[in-house]
Amino acid sequence: MLKTWDAKRTKNKERLGMKEEQELKYGDENNLVEKVASLLKVNIAHLSDSTNTQDDKRTSQKPPFSAQDFSVFDHLHSRGRASTQELSEYLSAHPESELLDIGCGIGGPARFIAERFVCKVHGIDLTKDFCETAILLNRLCGLDKRIHITHGNACDMPYDDNHFDTVWTQHTSMNIADKKAFYSEIKRVLKPGGTFLFHDIFSNDSLKSDDECQIHLPVPWASSTEHNHLVAGEAIRDILKDLGFHREIWTDVTAETHLWFHNYSATGNDQNKLSKDLNPALFIGKDFPERAKNLKKNLALNKISVIQGVFRKG
Ligand SMILES: C[S@@+](CC[C@H](N)C(=O)[O-])C[C@H]1O[C@@H](n2cnc3c(N)ncnc32)[C@H](O)[C@@H]1O
Repeated sequence: MLKTWDAKRTKNKERLGMKEEQELKYGDENNLVEKVASLLKVNIAHLSDSTNTQDDKRTSQKPPFSAQDFSVFDHLHSRGRASTQELSEYLSAHPESELLDIGCGIGGPARFIAERFVCKVHGIDLTKDFCETAILLNRLCGLDKRIHITHGNACDMPYDDNHFDTVWTQHTSMNIADKKAFYSEIKRVLKPGGTFLFHDIFSNDSLKSDDECQIHLPVPWASSTEHNHLVAGEAIRDILKDLGFHREIWTDVTAETHLWFHNYSATGNDQNKLSKDLNPALFIGKDFPERAKNLKKNLALNKISVIQGVFRKG
């Protein structure tokens, strides 16, 4: 399996003329998967490894958790599970269809979709710790047969052309400098007529100069300019149009997002009965409160827009 993936990666790199991408590191935890397991009070010693597994002696056992249990901490984007649910209203999926979640994080959105639509979900993410954690959480709630996680780069994905019915992404494009490679890969792996859904942050379209576009850092997706790659929504609409996508939905949810941040506690969620330490600081970084504060400030200054989009591949 890994060999095939490597061969495909090399082929894709040649085609895209890409350089080797560095692994991305979110958070400060050295062994995230073990930390999460210990906070959930589960023993991972008996789980053979942190890879996706199809072997299952556990089919008759009731999983110790439900996907819903994790939803208080596992949606790593603004407005949490509510915004995943909102975007999923545009989704039509059935048990035979395959959806790809790009930048799947620790798998909250993938689990939500796999449970709600009973479809097959693939998640890909550049942060290895997140992939391992997603795999653990999938197993703990019994969704590991429906969700397959791959550690890899969105700009160089190990999937066949025209494979997926749907591609989905939330709050990931802001980390990606090469927008053309990113959206071209999405087009490549989508079936003709397939749907691309996103919930993303862009620079506000009305900003003109580079100075105006400068945002306050750190923010949840970037501690420095090195990982902050915001562009105006207008530029993304142009790229998608040039690639032959048809626009179906473009909804500005900036106001809702701003409002949500007014009542948001960056240090924890009262509804989290599992452990108060399963919070954004664990996954994003100890300075998360400062990052969240800057995100709110950038929203207040109209520097960024939060957009839900639905596009169809022609
Ligand atoms: C803010 S998190 C969002 C995670 C997830 N989409 C969610 O909403 O819960 C951004 C994610 O994008 C991933 N990411 C950033 N650049 C990527 C790339 N080039 N390829 C794959 N994943 C990437 C990060 O590792 C991180 O997990």
